Amino acid sequence: MTKIFEVRSLSYTYPDGRQALRGVNLEVFSGEAVAIIGPNGAGKSTLLLALAGLIPVEGEVLYKGRHLNGLKDPRRLEIGILFQDPDTQLFSLTVYEDVAFGPRQMGFSEEEVHRRVKEALEKVGLSGFEERSPHHLSFGERRRVALATVLSMQPDVLLLDEPTSNLDPRARKQFLELMKGLRLTRIVATHDLELAYETADRVVVLYQGKVVACGRPSDVILNEKLLKSYGLELPLFVRYLKGEVEYARKDKASLLSTPDAL
Ligand SMILES: Nc1ncnc2c1ncn2[C@@H]1O[C@H](COP(=O)(O)OP(=O)(O)OP(=O)(O)O)[C@@H](O)[C@H]1O
Ligand SMILES: [Mg+2]
Repeated sequence: MTKIFEVRSLSYTYPDGRQALRGVNLEVFSGEAVAIIGPNGAGKSTLLLALAGLIPVEGEVLYKGRHLNGLKDPRRLEIGILFQDPDTQLFSLTVYEDVAFGPRQMGFSEEEVHRRVKEALEKVGLSGFEERSPHHLSFGERRRVALATVLSMQPDVLLLDEPTSNLDPRARKQFLELMKGLRLTRIVATHDLELAYETADRVVVLYQGKVVACGRPSDVILNEKLLKSYGLELPLFVRYLKGEVEYARKDKASLLSTPDAL
């Protein structure tokens, strides 16, 4: 299998002196889905920035066997990154312009740009939002537009930072389906352990800037002892499966109303 990323002894210290990554080693293969989990401040976002070649690091980050050569390297366009904060990547007056920006930078015809915008908005469930102002959308909608700006570039590799945070259950489910349908290499930093369990081939646990565990989703996410020792908790769906979650026996269905019942 082709190695997409090879990370060796990667360390990074922010300019204020805070060390975010401490000797990370990681390999990611072509077509693989890797989830990076870990508590707040573990270094997940910093690791994605390093993989995208956006910060100068100590150690080595090889993309397809070579160092990314600065901002001008055309191979950077093969790596799509969704930032944790969607407002970092939305700056146009309309959703259409934001999603069209990447493909236009890549030199595609307006016809192709239009096709890609339409397809990307469809994938994130925002068809019809083309003329809306991104700044007048809800946070969850802005996150979906930000994701569309990445998908419209049809990258070879996707780096996604907390892609499901603030998505409503339907948008989250749509995103999960989208992830499962993608064949490209993807690395997702997330607190959503169900997302990691359902969509990743491999889960990497980052803790205090170091990789402390790595394995199949079932070996990591169902392992309560491991999760707890690194500041994480068993997700609700696992606790439910293990019968730990108690539900009131009383039938409360009569108190609930569905749109049909109104
Ligand atoms: N711009 C910055 N300047 C200084 N320190 C930073 C900066 N960004 C992050 N840090 C620090 O680097 C460490 C790693 O942060 P990072 O954002 O990578 O963690 P994370 O795992 O993504 O956390 P979260 O789950 O909260 O998103 C933290 O200690 C954080 O305080
Ligand atoms: Mg983060």
